[in-house]
Amino acid sequence: MNIVCIGSGYVGSVTGAAFATLGHRTMVLDIDVNKVALINSGKSPIYEPGLDELISAYVGNTLFATNSYDVIREADVVFIGVGTPSKPDGTADLKYIKLAAQDIGKHLNPDKFTVIVNKSTVPVGTADLVATIIEEHSKLQLNTHFAVVSNPEFLREGFALEDVFFPDRIVIGVDNERARKIMHLLYQGILNAQNYDKKSANFYFDYKLDAKRPQYFETDIKSAEMIKYASNAFLAVKISYINEMARLCEVLGANIMDVSTGMGLDSRIGNKFLQVSSGWSGSCFPKDTAELLATSRKYGCELGVVEATVESNLKMHSYVVDKIKRKLQSLNGKTIGILGLTFKPNTDDARNTQASVIIRELVEVGARVKVHDPQGMEMFRKLNSELDITYCDEPLQAARQTDAIVLLTHWDEYTGLKWHELHHVVRTPYILDTRNFLNHRYLREIGFDCEGLGISSSKTSDRGNTIVAV
Ligand code: UDX
Repeated sequence: MNIVCIGSGYVGSVTGAAFATLGHRTMVLDIDVNKVALINSGKSPIYEPGLDELISAYVGNTLFATNSYDVIREADVVFIGVGTPSKPDGTADLKYIKLAAQDIGKHLNPDKFTVIVNKSTVPVGTADLVATIIEEHSKLQLNTHFAVVSNPEFLREGFALEDVFFPDRIVIGVDNERARKIMHLLYQGILNAQNYDKKSANFYFDYKLDAKRPQYFETDIKSAEMIKYASNAFLAVKISYINEMARLCEVLGANIMDVSTGMGLDSRIGNKFLQVSSGWSGSCFPKDTAELLATSRKYGCELGVVEATVESNLKMHSYVVDKIKRKLQSLNGKTIGILGLTFKPNTDDARNTQASVIIRELVEVGARVKVHDPQGMEMFRKLNSELDITYCDEPLQAARQTDAIVLLTHWDEYTGLKWHELHHVVRTPYILDTRNFLNHRYLREIGFDCEGLGISSSKTSDRGNTIVAV
């Protein structure tokens, strides 16, 4: 099929590369000519592990990029993958969605049937808005010349390729039989991935040939739009919940690592998204919970659990600052080294991260802050230009003459640091590991006072979860 993906961000580039891998002639369409040039030169416009390799393997063959909307005329399926950032009131800003719908309408081919797919995370009811705009700008009829489908993405940054090729589920919100058939045909390549011909497949398929078959779930459009928000908000609830349990474990002397392991052994709970942290953040959870709450208020339908989850998450950010205060007493004039600025590892995405909240609180109480991140410093600096902090190219620099080292993001490279060298350069050998990610026993042996979250110092396990003997 001929596929067009509008937007070359996390959704558009990954979706485009995936369908090109599956053999569909795929065009990534972006108004940013620099991003178009990057893709056509075989490079990814975003930092996403494995995406460069995939784009360079298929560009010029089944993958192309352009800034011209003329390609809409030949498209069988058009994915809208543009950004839906939060407005100050928390609602999703649909200006890019509306612009895309207008341009689709202006270029729609009256002589063929085109399926328009909302892939971006959009408020419930957006498919109706897109359909109306396309009708207005094309003078064509919905469900005669085109249909609008909701197919929300569930990609995790840092794992986007795995999630696109081996999703747990593909959700399709559709109310047009012709569009329903086209979408089911389009996704055959993903649904049958494990039967993919090893010779032509790339390593993503070889990598997980034993992957369980994704569920292909068809529903109405509004329910599909709602599944995305309801899923993300629930994942945020899970994380806020385990972080609250961590706070209680600290005062009771229990070990949150074992508590979350024990909880996760219950198949009704599951062991994912029960990893403690200084809280959840990033470009999705904050935006999606804010939109859900704004919509619920607009319709007078209170979402107490989601409200409490957002509030609990902000408290977790402050809890980390309080923990440092308790250890160092006054923070005024003290130097804090922060390891990790991105909202999670394997991404350069430093939008809306807990680091920006925690660092602001530290600076406000008079601390001097030095920071390091393997990928996210450039974006973090751009988004937080007013912060008077020191950016360090090496973790050793960020540790030098500090009164505390605080690990916020569990980048693998932090486990491989020469911690005995860091111990020599710090002013006070104190580490707060907000992910319980490092080997606290080893760090104590070399002289650090090492704390985690939800694990009293006497009970710290080695790195990560306690291994459960089964
Ligand atoms: C999320 C959803 O997982 C994904 O399905 C959706 O499409 C987009 O939003 P993403 O925002 O990329 O993906 O990151 P995710 O891996 O979900 O982590 C979100 C935040 O929660 C990060 O700050 C992460 O560090 C934190 N987190 C995650 C925890 O604190 N504990 C956990 O156990 C898991």
